[in-house]
Amino acid sequence: MREDAPPPQITVLDAGGQYCHLIARRVRQLGVYAEVRPSDATAETLTGRKGIIISGGPNSVYEPGSPSVDKALFDLGAGVLGICYGQQLMAYLLNGSVRKGDKGEYGHATLQVSVRDGLFQGLGADEPVWMSHRDQVEKPPPGFDVLASTDTCAIAAIGDPARRLYGVQFHPEVVHTPRGMQVLENFLFSICECRKDWDPRGRLDLLEEKIRETTGARNVFFFVSGGVDSSVAYRLCLRALGPERVRGAYVDTGLMREAETEFVRDSLGVEIVDAGAQFLDALQGVWDPEQKRHIIGEQFVRVQETVLQSGHYLDGDWILGQGTIYPDTIESGGTAQADLIKTHHNRVAGIQKLIESNRIIEPLTSFYKDEVREIGRELGLPDELLDRHPFPGPALAIRLLCAEQTAPVEKLPEGWMIPVQTVGVQGDSRTYRAVLVLDNPGWNEEMFARATVTVNRLQNINRVVAQSGAHAPIQRMSVVAAGLTPERLHRLRRADAIVRRLSHEAGFDSKVWQFPVILIPCGTLDRPDSVVLRPIHSVDGMTAQAVKIEEPLRSRMTSELLNAEGLCAVFHDLTHKPPATIEWE
Ligand code: XMP
Repeated sequence: MREDAPPPQITVLDAGGQYCHLIARRVRQLGVYAEVRPSDATAETLTGRKGIIISGGPNSVYEPGSPSVDKALFDLGAGVLGICYGQQLMAYLLNGSVRKGDKGEYGHATLQVSVRDGLFQGLGADEPVWMSHRDQVEKPPPGFDVLASTDTCAIAAIGDPARRLYGVQFHPEVVHTPRGMQVLENFLFSICECRKDWDPRGRLDLLEEKIRETTGARNVFFFVSGGVDSSVAYRLCLRALGPERVRGAYVDTGLMREAETEFVRDSLGVEIVDAGAQFLDALQGVWDPEQKRHIIGEQFVRVQETVLQSGHYLDGDWILGQGTIYPDTIESGGTAQADLIKTHHNRVAGIQKLIESNRIIEPLTSFYKDEVREIGRELGLPDELLDRHPFPGPALAIRLLCAEQTAPVEKLPEGWMIPVQTVGVQGDSRTYRAVLVLDNPGWNEEMFARATVTVNRLQNINRVVAQSGAHAPIQRMSVVAAGLTPERLHRLRRADAIVRRLSHEAGFDSKVWQFPVILIPCGTLDRPDSVVLRPIHSVDGMTAQAVKIEEPLRSRMTSELLNAEGLCAVFHDLTHKPPATIEWE
């Protein structure tokens, strides 16, 4: 149990679904504290919960090695709701049956609700829902009634009201199920009889109290990144302990976006460590993306060690503050990225030492990102900071592509291939492959489907783009050998600033999860680089959907970018993740 949170009334068991954290967040939005645990948590450790939700997941319940739950949890007397895989698992374990469906059901479906009370109280007879499954329940377990169906799925919801056990095949937690929150609310309050006990607002006093208690007579030092989590954690400690006892440093790597350093200085008031020259020096002549990452990581370690040493922050009266949030703390699906990012910071020996000697304070470990934003708003941090898109630590360096050799573009039946290597995820591994510029994209939703089909068909590419405008015909362009130079960095910074300004003015930035702007060394002699626009939707960055930039925004962006120095063409990335990654590297 976490001291700054109430004992959880609801536990979400993670069966490997990417939406498991989303379920817990939805429950919390309804005012009930929820935690996430691995699916194999024993029933004994779940005693006292009012309700248990079993999440969806990509497996088949009847295949060996698939995630399971402790069968005894169905006898705890708590309400249980299985969602998608969770419903199938419940049916399977309680002697119903599950089989592979004749066809899959992905996306919108109409739920015909036959029992409109209990779980479905307040719903209409026909409700739009979001489905994503192939397997389905063939026979409900003894004691269960069928509560709803769809054209494709005869058993789309089951329930045994006497034992308070329920299952739904659809996803009530996603926005595409408009009445999903009503279903969750029914489960929490009518079925499980939960109390409202959670509101991340109005918790500042409690959080500050906790910080003072943990810190004792010591002081707190932070490395802030300009991101939401470290900024909120820093400001929280500042408010709890006062400016004499809290220090923050921000490392300016010289790889940041335009006006970023000034923004961080003005909104947080931390010390700026200018290490730009050192980073750029180390990156001269380097074109390999992994090597770039490695060098940046190494330089970070050096600078951070120097700051720690010279400020005597490793001495006994200092502890380290970190902006770790809830999803970073639990070992379950959907947090692999967090682990990856953390190893980065952990390499700093000084920080490792502080962690090992328990001299660390992480005031936000009970909260999700949207809750951290709420706390930040209460602290008076500007919306501009709180509503920022996630931004990678290595910053513009991974959005500025380099090339070792000069090479021409190449005609393929589907379009033109640009021989610049970008990263993708296909199967379990990373790929480095070329980019295809799709002929006649048509600028409709269908171009995304064509992009997917094309990537699947062609062995040597992992990304498909559409050309939005150019100074020269594509056949006259070529990839030119180029490294990470101040001139190209300046070019990317300008392009990124133009896109951010226009995107903000049009309200487009609040409609997407992230919007990388990438510079590729492809163009003509006098305009050697081009820009790629990569707006995406995502839940957690693990998977992503490419998003279309509608007119007139696309034309406006394209013409402003083509007016900038050195830029030859503007492309729009059409590839989802997988098969491509969000960043190009
Ligand atoms: P990819 O490109 O792997 O990115 O699809 C997934 C998400 O992770 C972010 N990202 C990083 N974040 N340090 C970070 O803090 C990093 O080194 C890093 N690399 C990628 C990326 O921006 C996207 O949101």
